[in-house]
Amino acid sequence: MELRSARWYAGRDRDAYIHRAWMRRGAPGDAFDRPQVAIANTASDLTPCNSHLTEVARSVRTGVHEAGGVALELPVVSLGETQVRPTAMLWRNLAAMAAEELLRANPVDGVVLLGGCDKTIPALLMAAASVDLPAVVVPGGPMLTGTFRGVPLGCGTDVWRLSEEVRAGTLSAEQFTRSESAMIRSRGHCNTMGTASTMALVAEALGVVVPGVAGTPAPDSRLLEAAHETGRLAVSLIAADRRPSSFLTAGSFRNAIVALAAIGGSTNAVVHLLAIAGRLGIELTIDDFDRVGSRVPVLVDLLPAGRFLMEDLHRAGGLLAVLREVRDLLDPDALTVTGRPLVDYLDDAPTWDPEVIRPRAAPLVAEGGIAMLRGNLAPRGALIKPAAASPGLLRHRGRAVVFDSVEDFRARVDDPDLDVDADSVLVLRGCGPRGYPGMPEVANMPLPRKLLEQGVRDMVRVCDGRMSGTAYGTVVLHVTPEAAAGGPLALVRTGDVVVLDVAARRIDVEVSDAELARRTPDAAAVAGFADPRRGWERLYVDHVLQADTGADLDFLLGSSGSVVGRESH
Ligand code: FES
Ligand code: MG
Repeated sequence: MELRSARWYAGRDRDAYIHRAWMRRGAPGDAFDRPQVAIANTASDLTPCNSHLTEVARSVRTGVHEAGGVALELPVVSLGETQVRPTAMLWRNLAAMAAEELLRANPVDGVVLLGGCDKTIPALLMAAASVDLPAVVVPGGPMLTGTFRGVPLGCGTDVWRLSEEVRAGTLSAEQFTRSESAMIRSRGHCNTMGTASTMALVAEALGVVVPGVAGTPAPDSRLLEAAHETGRLAVSLIAADRRPSSFLTAGSFRNAIVALAAIGGSTNAVVHLLAIAGRLGIELTIDDFDRVGSRVPVLVDLLPAGRFLMEDLHRAGGLLAVLREVRDLLDPDALTVTGRPLVDYLDDAPTWDPEVIRPRAAPLVAEGGIAMLRGNLAPRGALIKPAAASPGLLRHRGRAVVFDSVEDFRARVDDPDLDVDADSVLVLRGCGPRGYPGMPEVANMPLPRKLLEQGVRDMVRVCDGRMSGTAYGTVVLHVTPEAAAGGPLALVRTGDVVVLDVAARRIDVEVSDAELARRTPDAAAVAGFADPRRGWERLYVDHVLQADTGADLDFLLGSSGSVVGRESH
């Protein structure tokens, strides 16, 4: 087999000389005849959830060398979900594009992808799909459970809960601050069923992680063992020419959707899976999530929908034990990166704690998944996660209280004179991919203080943005088209009646088509839409697609493969 890297290194001409000589630096001559395995590493001090990946990379490296390959660590664009403004999602496509281009431009034959924090695994998978080199993911793993005043804290979820307690006056600001170091107890990503946990598990269900590895806690020595073995596997992937396009099928994505529902995963997985499928040319629509996922029971009792945390899920048997319960719903032919079907791994996947991983007969929620809504408020769709919502609000009629931007929301939400009650529907616009820009996680709007003080803990909220996977509430999100892309969300006015009917999959405003057609977008809303002058934001706003197809850039759909035609000299 001729290696791709041989197109750089083989031969006696001047160009091969240049490629070899600058890389040699102590390497034996035969290093250039061996498989070159990139380790795409998202470790960064500013992505604290991934900072331990440099140690994980060392184990991958050992495995690559043992199997006869050469390991080459490649730092790639890294995104710390809690750090970057205005939202890490603004740079998911940039990270994907940069990783894709770097993998293509360099003499590598395959890649081990190291990610963890929310956007990092999706970006790496988008890149791997578009460059289509043999690739395998090692998820960095969740944090250990921290406790505060004797009670476990779930990353993210308990921030929302505790901050609402402060606003409601039942927790002091000092105690709130003291909980910080308990919230983040160890290395690793958020330990709730947020986006990072979800995407690691969903990647395993897709088949791009060695089965059984996702969810291994970041500080657990078994993660290094898995990284070591994955390094060995990467070399054999190159020999087998097992590329993402050769084993990722529509069936793989159906398995991912079943997994997403059974774990009660983050709504963010919808945009990420759509984007990855878009790179592979696989027809996947928002309706597939509803059709395949919405009747699947939620079996995993983790925050934010349930009680436990990722360390508990791992102890209880992990994803494979969950999937064994829904084996009949899985595509038996969908292969994993190891070359074996996913379902092959389910024979020996016991559940050790049926409180954490519920049996199919006693689910946490009978019908989980994510419901896709349509209506005159969201002609191309919106979604809601019923398991994270209040059952009593899944069918609701209420007066809209409209906010034109997050700034407008923050300025007015706690105003004692705000005309709002528990039945009102909070509407926030200008938070889509184009409008913000980057589609931030603001859809789970904090409730008005005066209602919190009355004991109100949930309200119907509607937004064209996303919400954190660690959040909860009756939130209709990803409204498409977004207000800034001409969606009717821009036409809603305070006082209009909004009707949510999850069973009927509807989200509507009780305004006639004729009246909607007469209205023009509210000037205050339009003023809030992003209009960047230059740079990435300009490129992004000009080219980003809507949430219903994964919010990728229009020119990044599909694959370019790994061939580079021209030399550098
Ligand atoms: Fe990194 Fe939650 S902030 S995973
Ligand atoms: Mg997030």
